Amino acid sequence: MNSKDGTKSMNVLKVIGGKRLQGSVDITGSKNAALAILSAVLLADGVTTLYNVPDVSDIHIKLRLLSRFGATYEWREGALIIDTRNLHTAEVEEELVRPIRTSFYILGSLLARLGKTQLPAPGGCNIGARPVDLHIKGLRILGAEIDLTGGIYYAEAPNLQGGEIYLDFPSAGATQHLMATAALTPGMTVIQNAAMEPEIVSLAAFLGAMGARIEGAGSSTITIQGMDRLTGCEFRVPADRLQAGTYLLAAAITEGDVTVRGVMPEHQTALLNKLREAGVDCSEGHDWVRVQMVGRPVGVQKIKTMPYPGFPTDIQQPMAALLAIADGNSTIEETIYEGRTGHVNELNRMGAKIMVQGGRVSHIDGVERLTGAHVVASDLRAGAALVLAGLAAEGETIIRNVHFIDRGYQNFEQTLTALGGDVERIPVTEFEQALS
Ligand code: EPZ
Repeated sequence: MNSKDGTKSMNVLKVIGGKRLQGSVDITGSKNAALAILSAVLLADGVTTLYNVPDVSDIHIKLRLLSRFGATYEWREGALIIDTRNLHTAEVEEELVRPIRTSFYILGSLLARLGKTQLPAPGGCNIGARPVDLHIKGLRILGAEIDLTGGIYYAEAPNLQGGEIYLDFPSAGATQHLMATAALTPGMTVIQNAAMEPEIVSLAAFLGAMGARIEGAGSSTITIQGMDRLTGCEFRVPADRLQAGTYLLAAAITEGDVTVRGVMPEHQTALLNKLREAGVDCSEGHDWVRVQMVGRPVGVQKIKTMPYPGFPTDIQQPMAALLAIADGNSTIEETIYEGRTGHVNELNRMGAKIMVQGGRVSHIDGVERLTGAHVVASDLRAGAALVLAGLAAEGETIIRNVHFIDRGYQNFEQTLTALGGDVERIPVTEFEQALS
């Protein structure tokens, strides 16, 4: 069963290690940028055409949610065309919101368009509780009345009005959610201690194409002049910086030579800084980055995940796979999420020596080699880390819960195979028959 529709995957990935990855990859559209845009698109009283939207399960689930509120959409020659002229309130089941956290970010757009709505609360996930208190606090500052009853947020906005919002933490999601809402809220809104992730910048560009007036996106202070109406537009989703970083790490872990193309090298600065410390040869041009590796990486003493432009939390798990085979010890401190260590036990099943201290600090004693094993992906980026480990391991690795990987990596196994890797998606039944 194709897990693109987000259902439980009936597949596993089988990885045969030991192949060097070589070649180039054209990076597809950013899942996180596209998901943010698919919340803000509801602000448009018109038809929007999006290009380079990634074909991953999170996108398809979110489109189903938008259609429940009256949006209609169609894929035409690779473009996604969305008509958001006729929106209405709806009571949606929590299954449509809980698995895709950014589904919650449509609350502000619906309030700005409809004046009231209700929406199930988003759930936590395997990397953390994922609260939305900063979102709610900001929407209330803009004049929304929001109550949480029985797991449902009931919201009314009799008269939204611009205001001063200070984010206790530079939350990417809260910055996206509040910036978009403010774009269709009368008056001036200032967001201080805003997140600076590239997905904020691309969302601001999308809102600008709809007629919004935003200054400071990408800095810690964003100023939004609310408009009376926002229109449909055409927009191209930027390349996925996290996908790009994952393929660069796949090159490094297989002693390969891979170039990722169609990217913004400045989005990889924090990763390249640590790859160079690990002895990996990194080069870059105006829209490409290349990684070449011979031999084992060396341990990197201190990696600490931070909000952008710091080391990305979404790259620390695949980075741990590389450092698991380094010559020497490494330390990775995860400061963004309280539980983003689901990859560690599984990497240790493959022969890694990683000890987690206090749930956030991974102490990695590099080993000469990993060996293939049966492992389970606990979340999206943990799954990517296990695939990378399988590419470097001796023998065969079977990875379950492929649906997590399908949330954010388009054609993952096809791309890795095209680069020379041996990665195959096989139905669970076939795999279990082989075992019996
Ligand atoms: C986005 O999540 C990304 N997801 C995440 O990528 C990414 O890890 C994260 O930003 C940080 O860069 C999407 O864009 C869909 P946050 P988001 O709000 O917006 C706390 C992936 O693998 N917080 O910056 O949810 C929160 O608990 C995913 O692609 C509050 O306390 O991230 C977390 O500890 C995983 N209250 C921290 O902030 C709030 O109201 C970062 O969260 C909101 C957040």
